[in-house]
Amino acid sequence: MRNFEFKNPTKIIFGKDQIKSIKSEIPAQAKVLMLYGGGSIKKNGIYEQVKAALADHQVIEFGGIPANPEYEILLKALDLIKKENIGYLLAVGGGSVIDGTKFLSSAALYDGAEPWDILKNKIPTLKGMPFGTVLTLPATGSEMNSGAVITRAETKEKFTMGGAGLFPQFSVLDPQVVASIPQRQLANGITDAFNHVLEQYLTYPAQAHLQDRIAEGILQTLIEVAPKIMADPSDYEAASNFMWSCTMALNGLIQKGVPTDWAVHAMGHELTALFGIDHARTLAIIGPRHYEYNFETKKEKLAQYAERVWNIKDGSIEEKAKAAIKRTETFFHELGIETKLSAYTKDYEGTAEEIGKRFKERGWEGLGEDQKLTSVDAEKIVKMAY
Ligand code: NZQ
Ligand code: ZN
Repeated sequence: MRNFEFKNPTKIIFGKDQIKSIKSEIPAQAKVLMLYGGGSIKKNGIYEQVKAALADHQVIEFGGIPANPEYEILLKALDLIKKENIGYLLAVGGGSVIDGTKFLSSAALYDGAEPWDILKNKIPTLKGMPFGTVLTLPATGSEMNSGAVITRAETKEKFTMGGAGLFPQFSVLDPQVVASIPQRQLANGITDAFNHVLEQYLTYPAQAHLQDRIAEGILQTLIEVAPKIMADPSDYEAASNFMWSCTMALNGLIQKGVPTDWAVHAMGHELTALFGIDHARTLAIIGPRHYEYNFETKKEKLAQYAERVWNIKDGSIEEKAKAAIKRTETFFHELGIETKLSAYTKDYEGTAEEIGKRFKERGWEGLGEDQKLTSVDAEKIVKMAY
């Protein structure tokens, strides 16, 4: 196992009817900006619960943060933060609203000329404006990590940012919110969390037995709850296990002491930036091809994954590893998720070259667990995914 440090300061408030507890988590004197998305919270009762909890606080609202939070829209919220002298941010939404809030937390205290530089130049945020979250969609883990992904439609770019200053102070996880999530987003949430675990697990053996078993436990739990939650999102038992699995998949714990990959996300983000494909679906497009392309490096962990997660016990390491890739792709199909780029756009010709070119221009020549995956490799993988 490698050396590591681990600190996650986010307080999780988990369970039924816990939204009301934000009242005591947010300082009474703070002027709060409540941020949300396209309006789902006004249809499922979450908006009323938050407003009731903050009845004694001074609250201003900013709605309309879209999926794949858009820089230009966030700049409007940033103006409001400055104009209204806001001191605390509250994200009420899924990964997009939480990530948008993280960007604002950082940008509010940033004194450079152009906040996009935080993303473009990968400036870490060591201190941000304090914020909390009310999670409405289990998927990204953003509610308990310090990363964010922001989109800029103008340049068709999607970049990550983060830093120790961007952990939420608290996150409320009430599994009852899952009841109103549409099928498409439920499938996305399962697939995103599943891929988060794979990015931190499907590398090479690192003698980190506990990390492996926690990762396998999250994968097994997601596999177990997937059909239940798809059939009935108001099933509280399934929803609570789904929600906690998504948080645990990307709160930093399972990546400690082990190599991690994240190249699938790097390529996937480009597909969202270019075509607007849902984040999770881009991972289902790239993931299986990435594992095939990097088979030699990954085959031992793939075989372990086959045995322990999918109960595929027969055959050689290579046979089990191949069967695991196939079974993973079938799992995505069972969720109604297509795994070929051509199923999402007719315009796919040239995509691999464009992504290869972007990676090359940005100097992204050392992706993957060994920092050996070049822009040429990325181009080949994306082409395999057509
Ligand atoms: O906008 P509203 O009307 O609220 O509707 C949303 C949105 O259309 C809807 N929704 C959310 N909660 C709901 C609900 N509908 C009914 N009932 C509810 N309870 O779901 C739609 C999608 O929401 P979004 O927040 O975009 O989804 P998700 O949580 O999957 O977030 C995706 C974003 O997170 C980034 C992705 O790149 C993408 O931009 N990621 C962030 C990560 C992080 N910060 O750690 C890691 C991930 O790998 C990912 O990259
Ligand atoms: Zn993801």
